[in-house]
Amino acid sequence: MDFAALPKLELHLHHEGAAPPDFIRRLGQEKSVNLEGVFDEAGNYAFRDFVHFLQVYEAATAVLKTPEDYARLTTAILEESAANGVIYTESFISPDFCGGGDVGAWREYLAAIREAADAAERAHGIVLRGIVTCVRHFGPEQAKRAALCAAETAGDWIVGYGMGGDEGKGRPRDFAWSYDLAREAGLRLTVHAGEWGGPRSVVEALDDLRVERIGHGVRAIEDPALVKRLARDGIVLEVCPGSNVSLGLYPDVARHPIRMLQEAGVRITVSTDDPPFFHTTMAQEYDALHRAFGWEAEAFAQIARTALDAAFCNEDTKVQIAKKLETA
Ligand code: HPA
Ligand code: ZN
Repeated sequence: MDFAALPKLELHLHHEGAAPPDFIRRLGQEKSVNLEGVFDEAGNYAFRDFVHFLQVYEAATAVLKTPEDYARLTTAILEESAANGVIYTESFISPDFCGGGDVGAWREYLAAIREAADAAERAHGIVLRGIVTCVRHFGPEQAKRAALCAAETAGDWIVGYGMGGDEGKGRPRDFAWSYDLAREAGLRLTVHAGEWGGPRSVVEALDDLRVERIGHGVRAIEDPALVKRLARDGIVLEVCPGSNVSLGLYPDVARHPIRMLQEAGVRITVSTDDPPFFHTTMAQEYDALHRAFGWEAEAFAQIARTALDAAFCNEDTKVQIAKKLETA
């Protein structure tokens, strides 16, 4: 099967995490930023474990200093995604990296990203929407600034609010103020949980942040009552199998719980998380799922329909994407 040709929606993609190593290296040279420790000898991103991954991520992100840099990054991301058959992407964009939480600076970054996204849509047909993301290990006060940026720019393009970062730091309820603000601004909500935090982190995310999607969430499989709850309430998981395998959560895709979750009635979608870091692409994710579980075009079409239903964009955009899925 030509996996690149299947039309895909991706709901879980970190904007900086999608930067190709060459892109970061070139920008680092232009700006004379020291990138020691970011790459291995082969030129790939190098990290030992999840916490080290987050450190390397932030070191690489330090080369992205201006709205123009984010515009160039957006162009690079969307060209790669479109080449993988992605027709709709929601990416996590953090005011912490785009202006340091200042609303005025954030608006400038956002304008540059949107201009690049509009150009990519005209060139490749791919549609991008943004989810403003706070960084858990930066703490609740910084998250409030991110939520204020999100609330100020909420609309047809900034459609959601989320949180990434180190799941080992703090508790979901520490961030309830930010989530409440984002919800009141009309934003749809997701949060990273159930990757490193175990099933209880998913329960806390649902109870304390009242999200409708969970980033990862796969360790819910360790708690049958939670699996039933996810299925009953239609909570959508943004599953990133290649990311989980790359970071050592599961030994391989065949032993990843995505199929068990799906068979238990949980609504699952497939994403790459930080594709060049985890040596993956959307086409490779589909290929790996095909090889591990024998999933064919119909299974992937179902995943695309679930993702369309769970997407945070407005109805007009959904109709436009639905048409593309039907004619593909
Ligand atoms: N997980 C959690 N936080 C992140 C990630 C990720 O993959 N990428 C950037 N921040
Ligand atoms: Zn993620």
